[in-house]
Amino acid sequence: MTRALVTRRLAGDVMDYLAERVEVVAPPEDRPILRRELLALAPGARGILAMLTDTIDEEVLAAAGPDLAVVANHAVGYDNVDLAACERRGVIVTNTPDVLTDATADMAWGLLLAAARRIAEGDRLMRRAAPWEWAPDFMLGREVTGATLGIVGFGRIGRAVARRAEGFAMRVLVHTRTPVPGAVDLGHLLREADVVSIHLPLTEETRGMFGAEVFGAMKRTAILINTSRGPIVDEGALAEALASGEIAAAGLDVYEREPEAYPALLALENVVLAPHLGSATVQTRIAMGMLAARNLVAVVSGEPPVTPVVSR
Ligand code: GLV
Ligand code: GLV
Repeated sequence: MTRALVTRRLAGDVMDYLAERVEVVAPPEDRPILRRELLALAPGARGILAMLTDTIDEEVLAAAGPDLAVVANHAVGYDNVDLAACERRGVIVTNTPDVLTDATADMAWGLLLAAARRIAEGDRLMRRAAPWEWAPDFMLGREVTGATLGIVGFGRIGRAVARRAEGFAMRVLVHTRTPVPGAVDLGHLLREADVVSIHLPLTEETRGMFGAEVFGAMKRTAILINTSRGPIVDEGALAEALASGEIAAAGLDVYEREPEAYPALLALENVVLAPHLGSATVQTRIAMGMLAARNLVAVVSGEPPVTPVVSR
């Protein structure tokens, strides 16, 4: 039977779907697969169903050997997969677009509202039973309704975030690498936006793109949101910008070196930190697992993948 390495246990229906169609090979425990387990379990696999925390590089592909036909990534992002190495070996790479667009856009909005209205900071205040009283100037945040939202990266998730902005009567500015009608240059967006939300893939061009220079170009009242990939933001520079008041607040779901956040961020009240929860809803995780599984089964059965990664 066709061997498939599934690096993490997925929802019951997904595992059943896979087990009916392939011989599932999995690590002994449900935790991030160790590198040596990945290398030890890969040989002979026709497919690898990988998490975004698994680095799928030349070494893994070589360990898997010539039977490997597909890497089905359980994520929309695929910066953990060496696409060039896969292409050289004729290995198809798939991801899980669309099914997580709304969940991730909702998360960006949750962080936006929490950062603008100081919700997590207020929660901390309540929990430490700090004395407080209603006052006209107590814990004022920034108005979201009617503000200007700058969206950097206008793929599926960026567009879904923009659609939600209509309900908040926001003006939306968009910056993209590929021209779309009405897009503005990044400098213009940074000068005007009250909220800057990042929706870019991690590539060599976007790594470290949001650093001191960008924060210096933003309004002092502006809020930065990142639900895409951590290394796009220089966390040390962000902590400095937040501490010095160069920008007002931030909401992060992703980090340069997950699961760590840059230590200085942890001491700041004006940043909301979530542990990479963008797609983490019951419904979305089942849909992602099923889509990754369908991609894997399609390719190992000689059919076209459902959602192949189209190389940039
Ligand atoms: C999550 O981070 C994803 O890329 O799906
Ligand atoms: C990103 O910049 C995009 O065009 O989606």
